[in-house]
Amino acid sequence: MNFDLKTLDLATAASEKCDLLLVLIPEGFKPGPDGLSLIIAQALKSGDLTLKAGKQLPLYQVPAVAARRVLLVGVGDGSARALRQAVLAASGAFKAPQTKRLVLCFAGAVAPGAVSAVVQAVAEASYVYTTTKPKAEARALGRCVVGVPHIAEAREAFDNGVALIAGIEFAREWGNRPANHATPNLLADAAKALAKWPRIQCKVYGSADVARLGMGAFMAVARGSEEPLRFIELRYSGGAKNKAPVVLVGKGITFDTGGISIKPSAEMDEMKFDMCGAASVLGTFRALAELQPAINVVGLIPACENMPDGRAVKPGDVVTSMSGQTIEILNTDAEGRLVLCDSLTYAARFKPAAVVDIATLTGACVIALGGVRSGLFANNDGLASALQDAGDAAQDPCWRMPLDDDYADGLKSNFADMGNVAGRAGGAITAAKFLQKFVGDTPWAHLDIAGTAWRGGAAKGSTGRPVGLLVHYLLGQAAVHAAMPAPPATTSATKVARVAKPAAKRAQRAKISS
Ligand code: BES
Ligand code: MN
Ligand code: ZN
Repeated sequence: MNFDLKTLDLATAASEKCDLLLVLIPEGFKPGPDGLSLIIAQALKSGDLTLKAGKQLPLYQVPAVAARRVLLVGVGDGSARALRQAVLAASGAFKAPQTKRLVLCFAGAVAPGAVSAVVQAVAEASYVYTTTKPKAEARALGRCVVGVPHIAEAREAFDNGVALIAGIEFAREWGNRPANHATPNLLADAAKALAKWPRIQCKVYGSADVARLGMGAFMAVARGSEEPLRFIELRYSGGAKNKAPVVLVGKGITFDTGGISIKPSAEMDEMKFDMCGAASVLGTFRALAELQPAINVVGLIPACENMPDGRAVKPGDVVTSMSGQTIEILNTDAEGRLVLCDSLTYAARFKPAAVVDIATLTGACVIALGGVRSGLFANNDGLASALQDAGDAAQDPCWRMPLDDDYADGLKSNFADMGNVAGRAGGAITAAKFLQKFVGDTPWAHLDIAGTAWRGGAAKGSTGRPVGLLVHYLLGQAAVHAAMPAPPATTSATKVARVAKPAAKRAQRAKISS
């Protein structure tokens, strides 16, 4: 889908030819002398329209309006959150197959964050999974124009929003693919394809390389599968050579049966989503490819299946991790931490400014936080608050959880340096404590996205989270670097430092399709 930014007010929006004109009307709306303003004022007066976020009034073939259909939509206080809510509520109208061209316009001042919230909500609602579904059902919406009072003020937010959409949709598509269409090798191919963009490089390691590195914990998980493991290393080099990178580590279990500690069969299909951490790293790189910010980022993805088999690792087996620490694998279903721990050890070689791992790690995190906020664990307060702020700004929120050392007590083992599980209590925290044993003093954060990366039930599908959070965080870091040596008071991603010219970017975009 193509997005365009245009200078429009209610009077000029009336002459936009399209299938649907969505008019976003905030509380305190001030009518102008134009026709649409008059209609809105009348509708408000009669009570046929109220301006609570999501309230709607549809109009058809309005005289002197070029759009075939008009939908008046209340957007409450006009905040990013209310706008998202309103656009999602109105999405039935633009998901209809006859809506190919959509124009959105604001009937009032445009708050910061509004433009990006609106384009993201349109993309989120109109996304259609395509990989293994017939093309006939593909997204009908081809073009979306966002009208604002002043293009110049909205340009940066708009460009960031559109780049973020590319990243989120990339993550959603890979998350949604069934495990036989998203094997470790196919994930590696997706990463290699990203390396066609400027400043992105990709290396892929196989079983022999991983054995040479001594990643005994990762190898133990992959043993039971016929699909060969892959260790994927992506690099985005937009900053100065000597600038320490941020390392992102994404759990890439392309299917989690539980292994010998096998899972119950109900809803086991959803364990194809157990690579959503990996998908979020790929999606973040897809957005970096568009944005070309002044920062260095490394992406690491340990990818394999977790399967039961005659060769599979067994409960009680002890393996030696890359760090040298031994692990008693008491439950083969606690496999995420095993592939992550070796990746965290590997991450140290980049002398990172920060390491952030992203994983669908524990059912316990779903119980704790549900599907609203991802679990955030960190050994560093600055990193924790930067991630929490980025999540809030991106409407992709997380919530910090504790890491008291007492939570690690249950990981003690009589036969190894640690077990891979503690009791049922505090399961999301004990998993994080396990990971913490592999990060030393490096500023590190862990995002448990088990509740937020996908939805079950009728709306089953990947959400693309937390690509929004990660991209906001990274753009914030780029802004901090650009402002050196006098760092700004805030690290949130309001200002973005770019190293590539927009024209060059667009030329590049034209050459490479998605
Ligand atoms: N991938 C799962 C976590 C998961 C389960 C995410 C359900 C979303 C929904 C992970 O590998 C796992 O199986 N974790 C176990 C850990 C336990 C054995 C300590 C869990 O949460 O049950
Ligand atoms: Mn598991
Ligand atoms: Zn898992």
